[in-house]
Amino acid sequence: MTVKPQFSPYAESLLVHFRRVESIKSESVSYPSVDLGVRQLCDLELLVNRAFYPLQGFMTRDEYESVLEHMRLPDGALWPIPICLDVTEKLASSLATGESLAIRDGEGFMLAVLHVEDIWQPDLGREAEVVYGTRDPARHPGVRAFFEETKPWYVGGKIEGLHLPQHYDFPELRLTPSETHRIFSQNGWRKVIGFHTRDNLHCAHKEMILRAAREAGASILLHPVVGRPRSGDLDYFTLVHCYKQFVQKFPRNMIRLGLTPFAERFAGPREVLLQAIVRKNFGCTHYMVSEDQGDPFAANGQDLFYPRGSAQEVLAEHVGDIGITMVPIRRMVYVEDKSQYIAVDEVQPGMSVKEISSAELRRRLMEDLEIPDWYSFPEVVAELRKAYPPRHRQGFTIFLTGLSGAGKSTLAKVLLAKFMEMSDRPVTLLDGDIVRKNLSSELSFSREHRELNIRRIGFVASEITKNGGIAICAPIAPYEEPRQIVRELIQGYGGFIEVHMCTPLSVCEMRDRKGIYAKARAGLMKGVTGVDDPYIAPSNPELRIDTSEMTPTEAAQEVFLYLEEQGYIR
Ligand code: PPS
Repeated sequence: MTVKPQFSPYAESLLVHFRRVESIKSESVSYPSVDLGVRQLCDLELLVNRAFYPLQGFMTRDEYESVLEHMRLPDGALWPIPICLDVTEKLASSLATGESLAIRDGEGFMLAVLHVEDIWQPDLGREAEVVYGTRDPARHPGVRAFFEETKPWYVGGKIEGLHLPQHYDFPELRLTPSETHRIFSQNGWRKVIGFHTRDNLHCAHKEMILRAAREAGASILLHPVVGRPRSGDLDYFTLVHCYKQFVQKFPRNMIRLGLTPFAERFAGPREVLLQAIVRKNFGCTHYMVSEDQGDPFAANGQDLFYPRGSAQEVLAEHVGDIGITMVPIRRMVYVEDKSQYIAVDEVQPGMSVKEISSAELRRRLMEDLEIPDWYSFPEVVAELRKAYPPRHRQGFTIFLTGLSGAGKSTLAKVLLAKFMEMSDRPVTLLDGDIVRKNLSSELSFSREHRELNIRRIGFVASEITKNGGIAICAPIAPYEEPRQIVRELIQGYGGFIEVHMCTPLSVCEMRDRKGIYAKARAGLMKGVTGVDDPYIAPSNPELRIDTSEMTPTEAAQEVFLYLEEQGYIR
C-alpha cells in the first residue's frame, strides 16, 4: 500500500521516522533515481536540516519564478537565490508530476525522496543574469561554474529525508540548525553573531571577531563553509584543525565552531542574503559581513565584480525581513609601536602597520622561516607547518629522462643506494625496465602507449611524493607533454626534479648493452628511440647530465648538490 506523504512546514528537520524510511525504501525499488553532485548534495543537506527554512524541498516552478522576479517566495518571504534540482534531459523526460524520485549520493545511497510537482526547462541565461548580474562566464567564475555544472532541466517538489549526507570526518562539528540553537539556549546565549569563512584565521581575525561580538554584546558561531573547496584553498583537514586551535584562543564559553556544507555561488549581495538567512536559521541574531563578501574576486587582489560595500548595503536593507542584525566587518591591522591590533580606519599617519600576505605566509612555511606571534597563534602555525612541511621534510621525485643507454638506470641505482644510506625518507625506484615488466606489461612502444606508461609512472610517483617519500623514475619518456603533466601533478605534493640524461646518441649506441641499436640499424627492430622514433629533449630540466663525461658517482654528486642547494636534503 502506498502511503500519501504528510509534510509539516515547521518541522525541525525534513527527516522522517525510521518506520517511514523502511516503507519508502521498499516502495522506492520502482522509483527513478538521481545521483547528486557535490553542489546538489550541499543544497540537499541544508534543505533537510532546515538551514534553508522555510523551503520544504527543491523549488517548484512558481517558487523559482517568484524568486527570480521578486527575490521572494510566493508567500512573500525573502529568498535571493533559486535552490533547484537540476537533472539531465533523459531523466526529465522519463519523469511525470505526481511521481516520486529517489535522491541518492555519489555512491548510490538513498538520502531522500522528492515528490515531483514540476518539471521544466529553465532559461539558465536569464537565471544567471538575475542572480549573478551577468550571463558572461568569462567575467564571473561563479557564472562559469553555474553553466558548467547545471543540467538543463529542473525538477521541483517537497522532499522527505531519509538520512543526512554521510560525513565521516569531524562528526562533532557537523551541527544542524536545531542543535546549534539548542546549544545557544543551554549556554544562555541570547545574542549570537555568525561568522562565515573559508579562510585560514589568524590573530587579526580574532581581534576583528572579538571586537564585533563585544560591540554587539553577543557570543559567536564560527561557521566555516566546507561544502566544496576551490582550487588554491588550503586542504580541508588542515583548515579544520586550524579552526579548532583558533577557537581555543577566545574567552571561555564565548565561541562555538560548526562546519556547514554551504555551496557558495559567489553571487555577491544575493549570496550574502542567503548566507544571512542560513545563519538566522542556525539561531544567530547577528551576522558579520565584509565589504566584499560573496564577491568572486574578494581578497585575491583583483578588481571586485560587485561594487565595494554592496553586500553590506543589500543586507542592511533586508535585515527586517530576515530578522538578523548586520554587523559590518572592520579589517584589523597590527600596529608595531602600540603592540596591538587596531581597525584599519583608525590607523593614524606615521603609525607603523605590519601585515603578512598569504603568499608570504606560504613562503615562510615552505622555507621553515619564523612566523611571528603577533601574526598567528603558535598552535595554528604548528598545524600549518604539518600541511606545508619545509622542503627537507617534503617528498620529491627525481625524474631521469633520456635515450636508452644514456645512464639512467646506473645513476638511479647510485641514487637509490645513497638515499637508502641517508635513511630519512622511504625510497622507491621506478626504473623503465621494472615498470615495463610490472605496471605496464601490456604496453607497446607506440606513442600512445609510451605516453600512458609515463602517466602511470607519474601517478605512482605522485603518491610516493605525497606521502613524503622519494621516487626515482628512469624511463626514456621521449615526449614533452606527458613529462609536463607528471611535473604538474607531482609539484602539487612536493618536489619534482627533472634530469635530462643528455649523453649523445653515438655514446649510447656504442654502449648498446641491450643490443637494441644494432638491431635497429640492421632493420630487425622498428621504432627505437633515437634511431627511427623521436626523442624530444626537455626544454627546461632542473639538471642536464652527460654520462660520457663523468662517472656514475660524479653524476650522483651533481644531483645531491642540487637537492642540497634547493633545501630538499641537509
Ligand atoms: S618509454 O618510451 O619511456 O615508454 O620507454 P621505457 O618504458 O623507458 O622503456 C625503455 C626500455 O625498453 C627497451 N625497449 C625500447 N626502447 C626504446 N624504443 C623501443 N622501441 C624499445 N623496445 C624496447 C629499452 O631497452 C629501454 O630500456 P633502457 O633501460 O632505457 O635502456
